[in-house]
Amino acid sequence: MAKIIIDTKIKASEQKKISRHIYGHFAEHLGRCIYDGIWVGEDSSISNTNGIRNDIVEALKKINIPNLRWPGGCFADEYHWKDGIGPREHRPKRINTHWGGVIENNQFGTHEFLDLCEQLDCEPYICGNVGSGTIEEMSQWIEYITFEGNSTIAEQRKKNGRITPWGIKYWGVGNENWGCGGHMTAEYYSNLFLRYSTYCKNLSGNDLYKVACGPVGEFPLDWVLHWVEVIMKKTSIATLFDPLIHGLSLHYYTRVGARPATEVNEKRWVVAMERALYMDKLLSEVINIMDKYDNSKKIGIIVDEWGAWWGVEKGTNPLFLYQQNTLTDALIASLHLDTFNKHCARVHMANIAQTVNVLQSMVLTEGEKMLLTPTYHVFDMYKVHQDSILLPMNIKSESYKHGRRTIPVINGSASVDVDNQMHISLSNINPSQNVDLEIQFNDFYLEDCEFTAKILRSEQINAHNTFEAPETVKPEGFAEENFSINGSKVFFKMPSKAILAIEIK
Ligand code: AHR
Repeated sequence: MAKIIIDTKIKASEQKKISRHIYGHFAEHLGRCIYDGIWVGEDSSISNTNGIRNDIVEALKKINIPNLRWPGGCFADEYHWKDGIGPREHRPKRINTHWGGVIENNQFGTHEFLDLCEQLDCEPYICGNVGSGTIEEMSQWIEYITFEGNSTIAEQRKKNGRITPWGIKYWGVGNENWGCGGHMTAEYYSNLFLRYSTYCKNLSGNDLYKVACGPVGEFPLDWVLHWVEVIMKKTSIATLFDPLIHGLSLHYYTRVGARPATEVNEKRWVVAMERALYMDKLLSEVINIMDKYDNSKKIGIIVDEWGAWWGVEKGTNPLFLYQQNTLTDALIASLHLDTFNKHCARVHMANIAQTVNVLQSMVLTEGEKMLLTPTYHVFDMYKVHQDSILLPMNIKSESYKHGRRTIPVINGSASVDVDNQMHISLSNINPSQNVDLEIQFNDFYLEDCEFTAKILRSEQINAHNTFEAPETVKPEGFAEENFSINGSKVFFKMPSKAILAIEIK
């Protein structure tokens, strides 16, 4: 039997809030994410508002999308924002050198992105170009978006149809500058970061949260920690005079090999789960270093790219990164969200890659059809934790062993929301065995409580939704009779390869 203890009595001074921004998203000019995904153009027969697909907006609003990162990714460090403003018919055509050498026609630019965020009612998160862009270019982009006065740049925005400035908080200063963003060393990038960040100004009352490029967690840990150490050391001294850094990014993909997602078998399943669970160790190590320089946890970790990376679907462009999304992906997502929730004192934001038709997507589209992936349903089931207070969990799990790998099978998160409602999310990543579970609540009696629960599961680890059968994997009710209550304890059988969301009233 596995056992969980949930601490429901945390002193006000020790309470940690799970930022809703942990449930953030990322959309890059890559494959069919923007073009033939989010953006169909105003003349499309697909229902749209100002060229943006209505069904996608509706789906993302339903999961309370808190923020959207754009325009990349690797694309960000070759993107020149002036290409994407003004009359669309005059916008230049460029080569998207990172993602298949396709022609980028710049139909989706700053105005279209910020309109999308307004339609979604979410915060925009723009990643600026350090790799191939200038400081002047970055600082003028911020001026174009935020300045309400009559500078030449702001007048240009007004001429392009937007009189009042937008507000923007989250601003990335480069992306993966150790790799596609310029192949820099940590020492070189940290100098550049300080220069660029100095000229990212707060104008007209706008207040930027500036994010420095961090490491990628799939690289050797020594290298990862060196990058973090260098950035933290250099920026913490400079920040004594001017708040130049507010967040440090971290990327980490659960890479499972070259096979498509739907070809997952038990061996790849355990590899995927083990790699998803590695996020906990990675964050703990990075946090240790950050704590040395920033004990009060002011600087947030921004995990602005994470998710499963499988081989592409057969017959699709390998550089478009189009992959299906199965029950395995759903569990990869829930394990990550549990880890981010657990580390919410330091993790201020996370962005799964990528929203539509690329990597671990929320939705897939084909012509006018759109489907919700199993990962989408996890975000829907977990949205209750957004801006809630974390309830620490102590989990004594059973293990599952396959070959030389052993993983703990029970994982989860618990929180209490502003209406004092408790939410518990649990997963069992044993691919074939149910687990008897006991949850004990400190100082909290359950006899008069009402339990409502939903479950996401399937008999197959590769179960997925298709355009022909879009509801193969979706949450179902989990009857209250499954729970047996005794004082401050609840007992039940947690089904294998499943995610359970419980609400206690
Ligand atoms: O998300 C796909 C790519 O992965 C991004 O462009 C890059 O930042 C990362 O390597």
